[in-house]
Amino acid sequence: MKRFYITTPIYYPNDVPHIGTAYSTIMCDIIKRYHTLFNRETYFVTGTDEHGQKIQKAAEERGIPPQQHCDEMVENFKSAWQKLEVDYNHFFRTTDDWHKDVVSKCLQELFDKDEIYTDTYEGWYSVSEEIFYTDKEVVDGKSPSGREVTRIKEKNYFFKMSKYQQQLIDYIESNPDFIKPESRKNEVLGFLKQPLGDLCISRPKSRLSWGIELPFDTEYVTYVWFDALLNYATAVGLKQEGKQAEFEKWWSSTDSGVHHVIGKDILTTHCVYWPTMLMALGLPLPKTIFAHGWILNKDNGKMSKSTGGVLSADVFTDIVDIEPLRYFLAHDIHFGNDAPISRELVVQSVNNDLANNIGNLLSRSTNLIAKYFEGSTPKGSDDDEPTKKIQELALATGETVKQNIEAFEPSKAMEAIIRLLKATNQFLEEKAPWTTAKTDTAQAGKDLYTAIEVLRITGILLQPVLPNKMDSLLTQLSCQDRSFEATKIWGATADGTPMEKSKPLFPRINFKEEE
Ligand code: MSP
Repeated sequence: MKRFYITTPIYYPNDVPHIGTAYSTIMCDIIKRYHTLFNRETYFVTGTDEHGQKIQKAAEERGIPPQQHCDEMVENFKSAWQKLEVDYNHFFRTTDDWHKDVVSKCLQELFDKDEIYTDTYEGWYSVSEEIFYTDKEVVDGKSPSGREVTRIKEKNYFFKMSKYQQQLIDYIESNPDFIKPESRKNEVLGFLKQPLGDLCISRPKSRLSWGIELPFDTEYVTYVWFDALLNYATAVGLKQEGKQAEFEKWWSSTDSGVHHVIGKDILTTHCVYWPTMLMALGLPLPKTIFAHGWILNKDNGKMSKSTGGVLSADVFTDIVDIEPLRYFLAHDIHFGNDAPISRELVVQSVNNDLANNIGNLLSRSTNLIAKYFEGSTPKGSDDDEPTKKIQELALATGETVKQNIEAFEPSKAMEAIIRLLKATNQFLEEKAPWTTAKTDTAQAGKDLYTAIEVLRITGILLQPVLPNKMDSLLTQLSCQDRSFEATKIWGATADGTPMEKSKPLFPRINFKEEE
């Protein structure tokens, strides 16, 4: 795969972003930066899902037009992503005219192909999820996930989703990487054991006016999920004049891979609605839909705008820099699982991993080089077993990181890097260059050189997670070549390279959670 296209869900701008939505976005940013490091051409899209009843309601409550509400909210998202060092290529808004035009073209095409028909719908509707439920699905007067539902009966348009049921099952079964992790794939296959209904893709304007008008019936607007899911393809040029080559390049080419990262609560829309829509439009399916778990508060409740208990990223960044928070999300949460976050957990992770391993190794080695070698890198050598072992581990770490990132297992990639750092700190403990420097300076120099090479390699490998911190670490080491290839070379630091004395990169934080 030469090209890597990654997307976050597009967020409802009914409120400000919080740590849950920041999680999807930061993880995509980290994964995208890794693929760039692995020399792939990358494209990263995030954005906002601006139509539908939920947004119309939020704007009404504020007493302003929905477009103005969205325009204001979008600024909150953009500034949050900037603070969190999220380097997206395109910020997608479903209210952009060109997207509306593409949605309209897709609907017309499906209507002309007889994939859409009209019928009377009677059932339950959840505004907060923007999803219809049948009598059977409603539990104790609530949606399956416990949201309020209201009874409605109306004429609507339907997409013939049911006719793709078997084709979808076959596709999921023959493409093991399509839905990840495995547990989510099984969940979707379980869902597909029941007969699949057709998808209601319209809303009468009498009930909802805030949406994209149906091209074949001006009394209706498009169902918000049908509009929103198309963002992934319209963002890279679907059905736009002069953009065919761009669409081919990112979406259809076999050199490219489309990857959607989502939360596990929006599995059905992404793994059932979206692929069947693509099948009907005759378009290739994404390579991977990865559903991550929930970020829980310290009482193990889900944090979300509608369930309360929301923590904004600012709660953490008053005690740690933004980059250690990114590290915590990548390392401490196994991607795919639910996991708690709290200020205490973030601080522990900074102290244990970043301060004790990288910070400690950097300060020990550069301080000794300043003291005994006038800040100039001593000559290295791998003429003993312990050094050879460190060297072997260091040279293998890049490939381990690559494999783990490609498998959407960033926490394992972080673990591999920490393993190398721990082994090197242990190596220094045993070699004790602070003692040998006084009697055998050449030996101390060799050992310190080993530490410097490990720092250089881990510095390169951690750039996607900690871009600024690793920039300053690599600058202290006078490291020029920060490419992935450079992690496969031992000895890239020439002896005599000037080495700055360490500035504390990750100061230990003294923190006690208040009750
Ligand atoms: N607009 C739809 C997505 C359309 S994509 C074509 C939507 N938006 S959302 O704003 O409600 O949520 C977006 C994502 O944030 C979901 O993937 C959801 O799982 C994620 N999260 C919201 N709260 C979360 C946590 N507490 N933890 C982890 N992810 C969370 O759904």
